[in-house]
Amino acid sequence: MWIEHKLIRKWLRLYEKMRRRLSKKKILALTSICLVALLIYCLYEWKILCSHTRLQTTIDTVCSHFANGKAHGNLCRQFCVTGDLQPEACQTFHAGKEVVFRASLENLPVFVKGRRDDFMAHPEEALHWGSEVFPSENDFQMMAKSYLSNNMGIQLQTANLMETLWFRGKDDTNLPQHPDVANWQRANVWSLIQDNEYVLSKLHASLDVFPTLMGTCGGLYVVEALEPLSYPHYLAKLSFGQWAQRVSVALAILDLLDELENVFDQPIHLCDVKPEHFGISDFGKVKFLDLDSVFLKSYLDKTMIENVTCQNHNDCDFFDCKGQCDLITNKCTKGVVNNNLQVVCEKVLQSRSSGVLLSLPGLLTSNHLNKRLDRLLKKCSNPTGNKEGIRLEASAEVRTELYKALREVMDIARQVDHDEEDFKNLDREI
Ligand SMILES: Nc1ncnc2c1ncn2[C@@H]1O[C@H](COP(=O)(O)OP(=O)(O)O)[C@@H](O)[C@H]1O
Ligand SMILES: [Mg+2]
Repeated sequence: MWIEHKLIRKWLRLYEKMRRRLSKKKILALTSICLVALLIYCLYEWKILCSHTRLQTTIDTVCSHFANGKAHGNLCRQFCVTGDLQPEACQTFHAGKEVVFRASLENLPVFVKGRRDDFMAHPEEALHWGSEVFPSENDFQMMAKSYLSNNMGIQLQTANLMETLWFRGKDDTNLPQHPDVANWQRANVWSLIQDNEYVLSKLHASLDVFPTLMGTCGGLYVVEALEPLSYPHYLAKLSFGQWAQRVSVALAILDLLDELENVFDQPIHLCDVKPEHFGISDFGKVKFLDLDSVFLKSYLDKTMIENVTCQNHNDCDFFDCKGQCDLITNKCTKGVVNNNLQVVCEKVLQSRSSGVLLSLPGLLTSNHLNKRLDRLLKKCSNPTGNKEGIRLEASAEVRTELYKALREVMDIARQVDHDEEDFKNLDREI
């Protein structure tokens, strides 16, 4: 007690001394500097600003693990030895993964992604206990399969897990590995399979609905860079031709949604739909690029009702995947009740309310949007015209009508192009 008093008195004396020495102006300047520093720190933390130095630190970290034999992967040489992978720009405004940046890989535009800046920095997520104790190969297989089943609802029936879930490096032969190498390779795969995006991209690479996965190094992976969709600005006036180009992208998005519904064993749900999560590949294919919240329907249905109590329907939602609350038993009763088409109509195709007075233009916002298409988009994004959150699927009929109406616009655009060509030819002949 006595010591505490003495300490407090000492601090008070120090404070008085400082106060006398510092003028009000100095105190004001110091406080402002601290506030500005805090603001800059927050802007970086919230990823409103980003820095190139941080990218380099991420690469340096994975390369130091590579040098110590702890990071493996088919692209480690490009990251750390040949310099074929060069960071180009850091990415602002993203909240899920710790690593997202644009880079070039052998002059191809790519994105480098990773759930963690440093896959070794979180011992609670690591495969090994301490730095030495690793599970056996069989135990690892069991661990990985049950992790994927429990956390993603994916039942893997493969005998060779490493082949299915990983890219071997050029120097890694199929001959038996030194136990240390094999252990660290599994540790890398363990880190990667905790990333929903990596797992879906790897397992469904042949379907061409997600950006092509090119390889990994440690806990980082590299995917093809897509071109972002272009959205109309508020005051921009689109020509009919320019609008028709957007209509063709909307058709490509509908095709993608069809594939997500039909080409997997069961429908896949996009629970975090934003315009910037779609992109166009070199071959003109629209793909979905942020897979952190993309899930199989059966898994989503199960997790959305598991032990969830609710007071209203919103309590049962998983981002854009809407649930439903039984208001008598206060339990989430159904799994996901809306579908991808409804969310995409609401958040991508149609203009969206930003919560304030302003509404953000959607992909199809334009004065060329005819009444029929406008009505269809409204019906698609809000099938019953409900004012309090939408909890219904956009129907198959709306999907068909929407396809039809968009294709008609494309036919007209082709006709206009054709007529213009005719006029030009006529001019030349005259
Ligand atoms: N493969 C890609 N091609 C083009 N842009 C991409 C790609 N991956 C990510 N981006 C850009 O980076 C942003 C953040 O990436 P995202 O995967 O959404 O990260 P997070 O999970 O942190 O939100 C995306 O909104 C998109 O603008
Ligand atoms: Mg994102």
